[in-house]
Amino acid sequence: MRLSLGDPNEGMSHGQRNRERLWDTLLAVATIWSAIEIPWQLEFGVSQRVAVKVIQCFLSVLFAADLCLRWRHLWTGHRVASTNSRTENHPQSLRWLLADVPAAIPFALIPGPIGLVALRMTKLARLVQTLKLWRQRDIHNAGLLRLIFFVFWMLIISYWIACGWAALRDRLPEDNDRMHYLRALYWTITTLATVGYGDITPANATQMLYAIMAMLFGVGLYGYGIANVAHMLANIDQAQTHYHSSLDRLSNFLRYRKIPMELQQQIFEYYSFLWERNLGYDEAVILSELPESLRVEIAVAMKREFIEKVPFFQGASPQLVREIAIELRPVLFRPGDDIFRKGEIGRHIYFISKGAVEVIAGDDKTVVATLTDGSFFGEMALLLQRPRSATVRAVEFCDLYALDKATFENIILCFPDFAAHIKGEAERRGAQ
Ligand code: CMP
Repeated sequence: MRLSLGDPNEGMSHGQRNRERLWDTLLAVATIWSAIEIPWQLEFGVSQRVAVKVIQCFLSVLFAADLCLRWRHLWTGHRVASTNSRTENHPQSLRWLLADVPAAIPFALIPGPIGLVALRMTKLARLVQTLKLWRQRDIHNAGLLRLIFFVFWMLIISYWIACGWAALRDRLPEDNDRMHYLRALYWTITTLATVGYGDITPANATQMLYAIMAMLFGVGLYGYGIANVAHMLANIDQAQTHYHSSLDRLSNFLRYRKIPMELQQQIFEYYSFLWERNLGYDEAVILSELPESLRVEIAVAMKREFIEKVPFFQGASPQLVREIAIELRPVLFRPGDDIFRKGEIGRHIYFISKGAVEVIAGDDKTVVATLTDGSFFGEMALLLQRPRSATVRAVEFCDLYALDKATFENIILCFPDFAAHIKGEAERRGAQ
């Protein structure tokens, strides 16, 4: 089994990745079990039940196997990443490895001071590392995972604090182990939650100091918890939050500028269309933040639906499709908007991704043609170096892609087939 704790995707097949995840999950479960079992043992003594002994043997074997795999990994020169670094980092990896050694020794099974079993808790360092990796990998659910991990750590720390309180308190005569622990847990939760009923109070200086620490921790936890949960809930739907904050800013601006209500209404209609179309995100801005190689891939992927609608692109070379996809800029028009008017200087050619436009003659009434999804317009002015021959008006909400004049001319020069197709269409339209 290959155990890579470095870059989760690098050089790893799907099967290897799944095996690695399974192994990490198994180790995480084993570590959580240890984090619960060991404090209990320290407080109430080592259980002599066969099932518990078997589990302890299994954990020791598991942790020893993990240690061997990590050693092998380190010595065979694989990349092993530390928690903070994803690069080759042997000294740090070695440190993590040394933290794993005590966890692999079966202290619970060999005679010796009972406190030694606590050394298995060093495996928690690995758990922290694994949870961080899971969060990095699962970027889609990062917020939810953060919430789950926060609740997990809160529960486990409360459990430990209760174990400590149970160790410090004298047991009531009528209580068995469970009842004694339950009282300690009850005190812990009321203290950490800052409720503090005061029915269980410290009886000596040690208990007072412990209670003070628990209270301070509780206040911090409470503040951190409330702030984080509020932040996480607000971020669960980031797109919606972003959209609403943009709308608020816009609405304040429009009111400040005393823009007429009717125009304001049109602007909000436009925004709600933008929201329906792409959750309010600006495609061009998102693409501009990516490196060139990724930008081309994503541009093609995002425009795939549109590219499939344009008959000419079906037979075109992948090179042409990539060149055009990266240069196309999304533009939106509302019903009734003039995309351009007859006589204007041509600066773009447009492709219709979604919607319909009318080509209107010079009298501003006669509709020469109606163009829909997959069609293009505005090519004549660019090819023939003359003003727009007609007005083009959006009939409905139109999702268009614009290609600027300079890029269009370059593409025409480089791809003769595309040039011939566009020129042929322009001639046919000009003849009508
Ligand atoms: P251009 O002259 O740049 O601007 C107006 C556009 O309308 C023109 O390019 C063509 O793309 C388009 N157009 C003109 N006449 C027709 C037609 N008969 N059928 C379809 N589209 C046309």
